[in-house]
Order: sequence, then C-alpha cells, then structure tokens
Amino acid sequence: MRVAVVSDIHANIDAFQAVVNDFEKQADRILNLGDLVGYNASPNECVKLARDIGMHSILGNHDLAACNLAFAENFNIFARNAILWTRKNLTHENIQFLNDLQKNHRLSCGLACHGSPDDTSSYISLPFQARATLKRMRKGIWGQINVCLFGHTHKRKIWRMDVRGKVAPVEIPLDGMIRLNMDELYLLNPGSVGQPRNGDSRSSYFIFDTETNTVSFKLVKYNVASTIKKITEANLPEFLAKRLLDGT
Ligand SMILES: [Fe+2]
Repeated sequence: MRVAVVSDIHANIDAFQAVVNDFEKQADRILNLGDLVGYNASPNECVKLARDIGMHSILGNHDLAACNLAFAENFNIFARNAILWTRKNLTHENIQFLNDLQKNHRLSCGLACHGSPDDTSSYISLPFQARATLKRMRKGIWGQINVCLFGHTHKRKIWRMDVRGKVAPVEIPLDGMIRLNMDELYLLNPGSVGQPRNGDSRSSYFIFDTETNTVSFKLVKYNVASTIKKITEANLPEFLAKRLLDGT
C-alpha cells in the first residue's frame, strides 16, 4: 500500500490543492499528521478538501486550540492571533470535525502522531528528544512498531536507531527516496504542506510504500502569491505571509 503522508497544512488551500494534485495517482491512502488549520486564511476550504478526498487526519496542536482556546496558552503572538481569527471564521460543523480527531493513529508497521506519541504539543527536534522516543519504541511501549510518523516541526527529517541502539539523523538523498531496514527503528517527518520551514518555499510530503518499505520525499511548488493575498485580505499578521516566501 502506498500512503501519501502530509502534515501541517495550516489552512493553506493553494498548497494543499497542489500537493493533492501531485499525489493523486500515486497513493492508495492519505494520512495527515495534524494541524489542518491555524496560521493561514483558508481553514474551511482545507477541512472541506480533507473530507472530499477521504483523508485520515490526526489531531494537531493548532486543531486543538481552534476547538479550545486554553490550548493556545503557549502560542507566540502570531500563532495566537491566527487561532483567534480561525475560531471566528471556522463553521460550527468544521470545529466539530476537528474536535472529533484522534491524537494518534496505528498503521500496520507503525504509529502516526503530531508532536510525539506522548504529547501533541511536544517536539521531536533535538537528538535527545529523538533518542527518548526511539528508546520507548524499542521497549514496545506502543506495541511492535518500526516506524513512527510525526510532524509539528514543519521540517522534513529522518531519525534512525540501528540494531546496536545508536541514534542518528539520516540525510535525505537528492532523489528523495530512502529504503528502510526493518531491523532498525525510524522516526519520519514529511515536513509541512502549508508553512514549510526547511528554507524552501515548496510544500513537502512523502509517499510511504508499506510493501517495499520505501519512503519517497516530494517537494511541490504552489502559488505562494495567492496564499499571501488571502492572508493580507484576512488581516492576519504580515509576518505569516512573509515567512512563506522563503520557507522559514
Ligand atoms: Fe504546525
């Protein structure tokens, strides 16, 4: 089975539609690792597209804050302003859709989460954070899994624990394709569709082939100017528009 894995769409309908067009004929299933809304100006359009294509979404910290403002307590001023706008503009039906999302999702060989399997809002960004999660995977805390899919950092990333227990990041090859060794453990982050932070404005996602155990990272160009126009018209913070231009 080929699973298109996306994350952090963040109400960017131009990016989301471009990515859907890209994987349309290549994927049997679509999985979203959270944060359908927040930051950008098209939350209802993104929820609608997610439903129309039958995408399975898990809960992100911005989805959570859109449903309950108490979860925006640690947000920076830009994220907080955007979530206040999002709460005002989301339909009741779409808030209910977000409210029904689950924290984690089980796959045949792995687990999908937003921040980390333990906490929607915590980051797997630094080596000690990756090591802690991989150690818990090795102990079987979440059952017998080799792969954990995560988002939240908005950066494409692979962490690997080898059979001796050594943890290191794995460089993503230029062609984007990596074959997993199923004797080892992996943390895989597809990057972000709607607000990439790899220093590249293109949307990022990957296709995970669960039969060949290959992961193919993709970068997709979308109409950034159109997204910026929507942000400006919605009176959302200018900073949120600027950061899309250089992917930071
Ligand atoms: Fe996010």
